[in-house]
Amino acid sequence: MRIGLLNGGGDCPGLNAVTHGVVGAAARLGWEVLGFRDGYEGLLSPGDYKLLRVEKTEGILKLGGTILGTSNRGHFAGKVGEGGVRKIPAELMQDAFRTLRKLGVSALVCVGGDGSLTTALQFYQEGFPVVGVPKTIDNDLQATATTFGFDSAVQVVTDSLDRLHTTAESHSRVMVLEVMGRHAGWIALYGGIAGGASSILIPEIPFSYEKVAESILERERLGFRSSLVVVAEGAAPLGGHHVVKDTSGEGEVRLGGIGDVVATKLAELTGKETRCTRLGHLQRGGSPTSLDRVLGMRFGVEAVKLIEEKRFGRMVSYQQYHVSSVLIEDAVRKLKLVDPEGEIVEAAKSVGICFGD
Ligand code: F6P
Repeated sequence: MRIGLLNGGGDCPGLNAVTHGVVGAAARLGWEVLGFRDGYEGLLSPGDYKLLRVEKTEGILKLGGTILGTSNRGHFAGKVGEGGVRKIPAELMQDAFRTLRKLGVSALVCVGGDGSLTTALQFYQEGFPVVGVPKTIDNDLQATATTFGFDSAVQVVTDSLDRLHTTAESHSRVMVLEVMGRHAGWIALYGGIAGGASSILIPEIPFSYEKVAESILERERLGFRSSLVVVAEGAAPLGGHHVVKDTSGEGEVRLGGIGDVVATKLAELTGKETRCTRLGHLQRGGSPTSLDRVLGMRFGVEAVKLIEEKRFGRMVSYQQYHVSSVLIEDAVRKLKLVDPEGEIVEAAKSVGICFGD
């Protein structure tokens, strides 16, 4: 028996831990695993792949990025523009199926976020046995309590805020940190709370510049010399729109730039010296946290189990401390967003964090 494995979407800490889990569990069943390079692109004929041997994947659990390569653009982008679903052209799909058949691959593990799992669903609906593994630093997938990569990204945001505190305090400044997350505010919310931000601006809560400025000035009155403001890249002011950095190419639009806009506006309104840092891809880089290593490995093992049990069209899911599975269809139907009235936002507000609403 031969199975295929590919990583789609942006790279994410913990991807190699999944590979480690898939290859290890498959080896115990006497199966071979072919790893396709650069996501679905590796399925285009003649096929770009490598045989993943258990002894070659032994030490990769701790490595960031992906030894297989990945892509969040290209022929098989399942989501485009502002998150619209794209139907993969039939001839591309047939080409991929030919490659898989020629190589004797009888099932495929697709590790990806919302876009790549939307593509996986189309493969399944066209008749190829597929199982999905949720991957995204954004933590925006429905039907799983969390994804690997999120904890690592939050840790980078937390460390960065810890460092920004130094300059903020020394210079009595407002420091704005723009973080990733696309249309979801999870990274900003968790990172902001953990790193001691006084304001957190997320896409789910349209903000008012005046309210954020007022909370900074109120902090001054209370004797705080500085303030840290975390802005999710998808955040937008009341009545405004998120800032798009780039709309070119296939795949989804690239967000980015709201941090600078917020910093300029807050400097104007507060009269305080303000600086902006855009954290960008540092959030996806480096080694996964121990939590993401373990979760990634468990997800990989569960994916193999789903194939063994012939439960195709399903995505590995983490629910109440257990790894189980759900229909891919349910996971990609809608993004998992922060509840503006939920317990975490309420708790943050209770300790004085301003959301600009
Ligand atoms: O989905 C993961 C993510 O890192 C988003 O948070 C971000 O908007 C996007 O990918 C960036 O993509 P790229 O690597 O193409 O710039």
